[in-house]
Amino acid sequence: MNTDEFRQAGKEMVDYICDYMETLAVKRRVTSAVKPGYLKNMIPEEAPERPEPWDNIMSDIEAKIMPGITHWQHPRFHAYFPSGNSYPSILGDLLSDGVGIIGFSWASSPVCQELETIVLDWLGKAIGLPDEFLSCTQGGKGGGVMQGSASECILVNMLAARAEAIKRLKKDEPKAEDGHLLARLVAYCSQEAHSCVEKAAKICMVKLRIIEPDEKSSLRGEQLRQYASSFNTNPNKWLLTNFDCSTMWVRDRFKFTEAMVVDPIYLQHNHDSQVIDYRHWGIPLSRRFRALKLWFVIRSYGLEGLREYIRNHCRLAKKFESYVRDDRRFEVCNDVKLGLVCFRLKRNNKINQELLVRINYSEKLFIIPSLIGKKYILRFCVVAERATEEDIKYAWDVITSIAAEVLEESERAEKANKLPEILGAAKVPPTAAGDKPLFQHISQQFSFTKSLSRDVYQRYISKKSLHDGVSPIVVVDEEEDQEN
Ligand SMILES: Cc1ncc(COP(=O)(O)O)c(C=O)c1O
Repeated sequence: MNTDEFRQAGKEMVDYICDYMETLAVKRRVTSAVKPGYLKNMIPEEAPERPEPWDNIMSDIEAKIMPGITHWQHPRFHAYFPSGNSYPSILGDLLSDGVGIIGFSWASSPVCQELETIVLDWLGKAIGLPDEFLSCTQGGKGGGVMQGSASECILVNMLAARAEAIKRLKKDEPKAEDGHLLARLVAYCSQEAHSCVEKAAKICMVKLRIIEPDEKSSLRGEQLRQYASSFNTNPNKWLLTNFDCSTMWVRDRFKFTEAMVVDPIYLQHNHDSQVIDYRHWGIPLSRRFRALKLWFVIRSYGLEGLREYIRNHCRLAKKFESYVRDDRRFEVCNDVKLGLVCFRLKRNNKINQELLVRINYSEKLFIIPSLIGKKYILRFCVVAERATEEDIKYAWDVITSIAAEVLEESERAEKANKLPEILGAAKVPPTAAGDKPLFQHISQQFSFTKSLSRDVYQRYISKKSLHDGVSPIVVVDEEEDQEN
């Protein structure tokens, strides 16, 4: 592709994206209907030996790629969490790809590091972080960095904490082996912490002690507040910035980077002492110019616009919560403060799972489940950038009309003592192959869950394992499902 062809194709691609966004709600169903392996039959097994015309490639997008897309920007998408996206952010990534730099040290592209430091200070101030976390604080040791994901942030912080703890223990036992001291380390986290904490502890080989949260699922305690030495939040979720953009700040950047500094000669430069080199702040050496997209987003929306975006989502979540509370068949299961409402029918887990299956099967909405304690709940997340009250009302109408159906059928079935036969069987047509669908199969497909063995399920609901709002994947076993 030469420059003129790129100019042409690039404009077409921008048009394609704009049309996609504008017509998404009316032209596409929110979830994908494909079966595992669908693409294998559509794409050759071998890479093409000869170059293909761009038009051929472009025509495959609608034919082969779009069928396999779950549309995260769709107004009927209420699953997981918002996937940050906005035109200024897309332009930021486009320019980053366009200049094609790798920012592993200040010298490798000075602006890549400098803009990141400035934008992280902007955002840190905007969210009210204490001054010690900002690099612009006179005489301070703090600073922010962008990583690819929250999981990476947790991991590098645990690596830093591990190095510091071993160093401290070595003061008293200078001859002890690191491995010997490592066996004595324990990390603490909330039972409600994301499962990436468990993963980080596994990688770091540090034992994890899980602390019970309060009745609102919050971890409390003055001590935790006092000792917080880092903070992480994902603009690629709820700040209109495309993945990847996970921002984190530390109180003491010198202590933080100690575990990760390596300094080969080809990466040294004359300004080492004056600038931040982010190669010491994470696992990869190569770094993308991510700061551009966040810089574009903050400037294009202004802090005022970003606040309004978040407040709108919080308002709409409250609206949804009020619908749930006003309907005596349902209950709200979380303290609704942000954009997420956890709710369920005041019935057992199986019936709630049935509700979720049918909602997703209807193709009118996409919602995922979770567990709170042993209760199977539905998570309703406000996601679309320009979500409106009508979207929330629409979703509630879909949910309540399906709930009425499920309740009516289950009551009828309970009377006839035929509940297991009815659940999952109604309104589910035969599969393309003509076989009669089984409850398990359908429920897995449309609750976006998978079966777990009894011991994994037990481990899952026990206090020894972490769960989070987006990855718990449970099919309730009949024997587990008392009248929860
Ligand atoms: C609270 C919390 N922490 C961590 C993560 C993991 O994020 P990432 O996908 O950026 O690693 C998530 C993802 O949903 C989350 O909600």
